[in-house]
Amino acid sequence: MKRSSARSFGFTLARPLAPLLGLLLAGLLALTPAAAQQAADAQAPERAGAALTGAKTATGKNWMVTAANPLAAEAGAAALRAGGNAIDALVATQLVLGLVEPQSSGLGGGAFLVYWDAAQKRLTSFDGRETAPRAATPTLFQNEKGEPLGFMAAVVGGRSVGTPGTPRLMETVHRRYGKIAWAQLFRPAQHLAEEGFAVSPRLAALIAGDVETLKRDDAARAYFLDAQGAPLKAGTTLRNPAYAATLRHLAAYGADAFYGGELAAAIVRSVREADNPGLLSLGDLREYRVKERAPVCAPYRGYEVCGMGPPSSGALTLGQILGLLDSYDLKALGPTSPEAWRLIADASRLAFADRERYMADSDFVPMPTKGLLAPDYLKGRAELLKGDDALPAVSAGEPTWDHARAEPRADGAALELPSTTQVTIVDADGNVASMTSTIEAGFGSRLMVGGFLLNNELTDFSFRSHKDGVPVANRVEPGKRPRSSMAPTIVMRDGTPVLALGSPGGSQIIGYVAKTLIAHLDWGLPLDQAIAAPNVLARFDAVEIEAGTAAEGLAPELKALGFEVKTAPMTSGVQAVAITPDGLIGAADPRREGVAIGE
Ligand code: DON
Repeated sequence: MKRSSARSFGFTLARPLAPLLGLLLAGLLALTPAAAQQAADAQAPERAGAALTGAKTATGKNWMVTAANPLAAEAGAAALRAGGNAIDALVATQLVLGLVEPQSSGLGGGAFLVYWDAAQKRLTSFDGRETAPRAATPTLFQNEKGEPLGFMAAVVGGRSVGTPGTPRLMETVHRRYGKIAWAQLFRPAQHLAEEGFAVSPRLAALIAGDVETLKRDDAARAYFLDAQGAPLKAGTTLRNPAYAATLRHLAAYGADAFYGGELAAAIVRSVREADNPGLLSLGDLREYRVKERAPVCAPYRGYEVCGMGPPSSGALTLGQILGLLDSYDLKALGPTSPEAWRLIADASRLAFADRERYMADSDFVPMPTKGLLAPDYLKGRAELLKGDDALPAVSAGEPTWDHARAEPRADGAALELPSTTQVTIVDADGNVASMTSTIEAGFGSRLMVGGFLLNNELTDFSFRSHKDGVPVANRVEPGKRPRSSMAPTIVMRDGTPVLALGSPGGSQIIGYVAKTLIAHLDWGLPLDQAIAAPNVLARFDAVEIEAGTAAEGLAPELKALGFEVKTAPMTSGVQAVAITPDGLIGAADPRREGVAIGE
């Protein structure tokens, strides 16, 4: 393992090391924490420069980190170089992402983590999803007549803000697994917030597209727009002293300093005093809990594809798509076959029909969670794919219920918009972290407090609470977590992880992950090519084809099969790591600014 104090940010380990790792790190540990900090500080400019070393693909013998921004990936890499583990790297990476990719994720949002604990040989998952305030009711996103609000009218302001989960998630998993001291993991983000970072082209473009809504919050306007109200340009050095102060506070006092005290009061004030005010209270923040949950796994071609169960629909919908396809020979058909895409598209439509009907926060509504992936149920649904043409209409099936079925269900109505981020990390001990993290729409609610943006995750609930008097599973309820599509995934073979991945993209996430898995596992494309392969997916009625790609050539044949076809940009942001007998392969989606760094 290569080490470089210049790129270590002065991280030192808080916990006793495994003897071998200890030897490898002897050089670093020869420094006292103070000396290490001094050495790191002396190298500060170089550290920022070093952050630009990542590439779209990387190989490594020891560890790999992939994230949506080079500075964030470098912070994770620095933690790993210093002998930290996947969780240390995850925390350091997330804290920098909240600064350099603020539109996508951060302290004001929520995240799901799927984690392989190598020492325990145990796969688990952590739910750091936002919660609806205790004062929320099913009519939160309806007008006085009970009609759903317009999407952006619901998003911008305080109404859409759920209790953030990301700070508590980071602390929970760091307490359980971390090796580097909590406060040290804040250094890269603190340094960049104080000294400044260059606004990336993607951030600049997204700010430029959002000027009118960013203007509505004083702090967001002052941060993202210049004195004349013009959007910041790519390459501008941006400092965030408010975020640096927040980080110092959390580094010193832990996540309690977020969920109580001055910061909590400022968050509540911002939500309640915004135009379009929300219901978040100090009690909501105080009572927020991260939930450890059993991962949901589905078999596919001899692998187990594992991910985040409810309140995410990610693993269940992905597992259904793959389960419906398992008896069809996609390998023989190949990636340019319209028949292969017919099967994938209609399997997806069937899975999305179930998702819309049944999937929500199972702590609040009964769900047929096991039934949705039961082999007999999927076999029956897969029969529907046996024809030659597109299915004319698709509706939810009748899976068996985990408990007595409590109530009939109506299909919900929920929309999602671009932001969100994926971090995938494998460390030298073989621990694997796959985390999808979000503030929901780009720039979330547009409310900025303490140098970070507050989420609009509550708009992931169905705006419609009932249909024809029948309740919708994903309706707003106090304390409930909005249904997600996030699909952080770890693929297992013979009880050990072989691949980890995930993506942003709202409900398109599921299709992005499915396409990457099929391209890699069925069609044998190397990981980077599987990610780069054109996105083609279906959610509801239409097949969506990525604009400007060779897949546009499929459109006439898919139309001839009876599909409605739409072509649009489909900006997936897959970050993946393959764990092979020859080492680690990392790959970041060419459509966004992510990189892989491995050693
Ligand atoms: O949890 C979800 O599924 C959404 N809030 C994620 C939003 C997202 O990925 C935006 N997409 N680019």
